[in-house]
Amino acid sequence: MGHPLLLGTASPVREFDTPALGALVDDMFDTMSVESGVGLAAPQIGVGQRVIVFGLEENQRYPDIQPIPMTVLVNPEIEPLGDEMEFGWEGCLSVPGMRGLVPRYRQIRYRGFDQKGNRIEREVEGFHARVVQHEIDHLDGILYPQRIEDMRMFGFEQELEQHQLETSSLNRPESNS
Ligand code: NI
Repeated sequence: MGHPLLLGTASPVREFDTPALGALVDDMFDTMSVESGVGLAAPQIGVGQRVIVFGLEENQRYPDIQPIPMTVLVNPEIEPLGDEMEFGWEGCLSVPGMRGLVPRYRQIRYRGFDQKGNRIEREVEGFHARVVQHEIDHLDGILYPQRIEDMRMFGFEQELEQHQLETSSLNRPESNS
């Protein structure tokens, strides 16, 4: 947080199925996995292009969490389905060590392309919808702290955990994106 790339608007990808795009996507999945994140946007690794990756594999330790398919989404578009909002704790690899309570649309439709140029379209809800909204925000220069409505619900992970501030979801490794 503080790097100008994270505050700007990323540029659309114009060419699909190129070695450069393939390498970027590999890099992004590597970074996401090293950091135990559930999503990552290209500007977070210094590339101002409209590319996000996300996914969450089934995990015995968190059986209540619905897995999310490992997905590359290039030039994504998003549309809320209804106006129902839902609050959830979020973290971000660009804002390490912190968590905040953020409202997001509960249900969305998203569209985009994979790195080969194949179309992707899905209707999703809940945590999956939250992750995609968080990542697409990165392409438009928005970091989750800008979406927090009550700044008392923002703090260091360690403190929030210790003080049990309605933080049942805090311990999940996948809450970083
Ligand atoms: Ni993030």
